[in-house]
Amino acid sequence: MWLSNSSVGRKVVMSVTGIALVLFLTFHMAMNLVAIISADGYNMICEFLGANWYALVATLALAALFVIHIIYAFWLTMQNRKARGSERYAVVDKPKTVEWASQNMLVLGIIVIVGLGLHLFNFWAKMQLPELMHNMDMHADTLTLAYAANGAYHIQQTFSSPVYVVLYLIWLFALWFHLTHGFWSSMQSLGWNNKIWLNRWKCISNIYATIVVLGFALVVVVFFLRTLMCSGAC
Ligand code: HEM
Repeated sequence: MWLSNSSVGRKVVMSVTGIALVLFLTFHMAMNLVAIISADGYNMICEFLGANWYALVATLALAALFVIHIIYAFWLTMQNRKARGSERYAVVDKPKTVEWASQNMLVLGIIVIVGLGLHLFNFWAKMQLPELMHNMDMHADTLTLAYAANGAYHIQQTFSSPVYVVLYLIWLFALWFHLTHGFWSSMQSLGWNNKIWLNRWKCISNIYATIVVLGFALVVVVFFLRTLMCSGAC
């Protein structure tokens, strides 16, 4: 099949899944900003996105997108390395136009995956998973279940820890690099690769990645500062 047999096809799969993940990130970031304004409003959204059939379908679709994107990333990297052979180890002057992010997409992607694992452990495993277990008549911890739809509580708990604040900020920094390169590179793979549009996409990628990542980082920092200001007094 063209999408798996040819290198162009594989790049198209990477691009389409990457763009779909960027759309998810945009929604997720906008949703999280609500937590800063209103805990009740945020919890209403979390309840809506609980263990309902449509939320489960969305979660499975999202997981499939992540898995396909990751498998194809490794596949393409291996293929590129094989094509370059021993030249990869030779000391060659890299052109200045090749940015750091583009050289390190796989490493950045791995940091993003590790961060995502930690993130799912912090949130998904305490929110959607216990509800799912309860719906399937499996044992779910009663206290955990009581807090399952209280997303604002989990955000507060997580970002009251300076360790998590630092880990999340490092994770978001890696995500920023990954997005700045990934977004315009997707457009290039999809054929939008004339010189004028390529420069425009690079500019749009930088602005877009910065907005998305700053939105996430704002939640981390605001909740941490609230903990600092409230310690002992709230
Ligand atoms: C400040 C940053 C973030 C906060 C506060 C946050 C918050 C949350 C919360 C509360 C959930 C659980 C939703 C539920 O189960 O009802 C969740 C799930 C999730 N988050 Fe985040 N998130 C953040 C950043 C990110 C980033 C940067 C990514 C991706 C790179 C991400 C990917 C996911 C995924 C894949 C899920 C599972 C979604 C699902 O179950 O359908 N999150 N997040």
